[in-house]
Amino acid sequence: MNNPLDNSVANPFEIAAQAAESIAKLTGVPQHDIALTLGSGWAKAADLIGETVATVDATEVLGFSAPKVQGHVATIRSIKLPSGKHALVLGARTHYYEGHGVRRVAHGVRTAAATGVKTMILTNGAGGIKETWKPGTPVLVSDHINLTADSPLEGAKFVDLTDLYSKRLRDIARTVDSSLDEGVYCQFRGPHYETPAEVQMAKHIGGHIVGMSTSLEAIAAREAGMEILGLSLITNLAAGIQKEPLSHAEVLQAGKDAEVRISGLLAQIVAKL
Ligand code: HPA
Repeated sequence: MNNPLDNSVANPFEIAAQAAESIAKLTGVPQHDIALTLGSGWAKAADLIGETVATVDATEVLGFSAPKVQGHVATIRSIKLPSGKHALVLGARTHYYEGHGVRRVAHGVRTAAATGVKTMILTNGAGGIKETWKPGTPVLVSDHINLTADSPLEGAKFVDLTDLYSKRLRDIARTVDSSLDEGVYCQFRGPHYETPAEVQMAKHIGGHIVGMSTSLEAIAAREAGMEILGLSLITNLAAGIQKEPLSHAEVLQAGKDAEVRISGLLAQIVAKL
């Protein structure tokens, strides 16, 4: 199916604005305040944060496409929080490794921004480099190293990425769980997992978490002026740190095992925003 974002002369911000308009129409909610992208292991948070007002098939909204990976859900949900704020849950992340380009990767956060969102919560399932993190550990993202050699920004846009993952929001998260550790997220291109040597490189350059999403989305979210909270679920220790080979099925299982606990944590954090 044709996606208008694949047309290089189209303006991705205009497409995001149109997508936001149809979300407003389809959900009946004119403006949203907070958006969440729920990665592996985090999906249940959508059931816990408030009352679902509407669920939209993401493919009905301009620029979105169905995710190819089993375990990822293609819906956009509007949820009314107990505070009265409106949250938009994006279950339709496009990963960089799908090969559709950065515009599609950034479309979810750009659409969220166009619906009025000021706080973007990006979650993911990821590999842990710190051996003390057992599978099932949620970790705050404190910063990132973007190893994709790409950017969602086009042209000469010089966007500051200092405090990209808001210290203020991390501090709020720690008021819910003071034991939450934090680390630097290294985004690799994927979809292959890293080699043990690449994991050692990530460690030496200051990384603690390895994954295949989030960094490019965070850059687009910052460009759009949103405040960002990043959360990783450590589904496995990274290649070579754990001695057994990695498998996608195991990653999904670790996500399922931790889902109720970490989704509860996320719901409590959202209640404080
Ligand atoms: N590496 C990259 N992405 C991942 C991993 C990993 O070890 N686990 C879950 N997503």
